[in-house]
Amino acid sequence: MRPLRSADFDRVLELERVLFGAGAWTYGMLADELAALGRWYVVAEPTGPDAVAVYGPGPKPVVGYAGLWFDGDVAQVMTIGVDPYYQRHGVGRALLEALIERARTLRAGAVLLEVRVDNGPALALYERFGFERIGLRKRYYQPEDKDAFTMRLDLAATVAPEDPGTRDQEPEPSAPDGGTPAGDAA
Ligand SMILES: CC(C)(COP(=O)(O)OP(=O)(O)OC[C@H]1O[C@@H](n2cnc3c(N)ncnc32)[C@H](O)[C@@H]1OP(=O)(O)O)[C@@H](O)C(=O)NCCC(=O)NCCS
Repeated sequence: MRPLRSADFDRVLELERVLFGAGAWTYGMLADELAALGRWYVVAEPTGPDAVAVYGPGPKPVVGYAGLWFDGDVAQVMTIGVDPYYQRHGVGRALLEALIERARTLRAGAVLLEVRVDNGPALALYERFGFERIGLRKRYYQPEDKDAFTMRLDLAATVAPEDPGTRDQEPEPSAPDGGTPAGDAA
């Protein structure tokens, strides 16, 4: 997992077309999105001996990508996609974990997202993480003309898996300068 760079644009746009068809982002949409305030995008690359055996020692192709927008209050999953060849191997889960962890770091109160009502794999992924359906947006996806569920993961009500014992610990001392939470979002 690493930050998305401009050198990844062609590969991400290729995956967009494969995964989202007519609804795929264009170069301009992706560039505008990445330049907007509060965005955080990551990509996944294969690692380990198998990846070296297949692709050699050099750079590996991006096999997944995901992005988050934090507006100072809540975080929004902007996109998540995995190369069909690599699906059902935990890449989507790793990407979504990274976004949720980032949202926690930013002290977001919740993570929101929209998902097509007929997108079974994505719905299963989100529900597995505890996202709940909170609304229906009619004809949200264009030009496909499909409805979307709005889903929400309440971070205030959940404890991070890697931080299970916080209720029994002393509270953290405040930053001496009254510092703000970590993060680069505006
Ligand atoms: C949704 C998507 C990102 C999932 O990526 P993935 O790498 O295949 O997901 P994972 O292998 O990490 O799966 C994690 C969990 O999600 C659920 N899941 C993922 N794909 C599923 C499928 N096809 N059917 C049922 N459950 C599925 C399962 O609970 C799975 O856990 P399990 O493998 O232990 O059963 C991928 O299918 C994708 O890119 N779809 C096209 C783009 C898209 O629709 N993005 C979402 C837009 S809102």
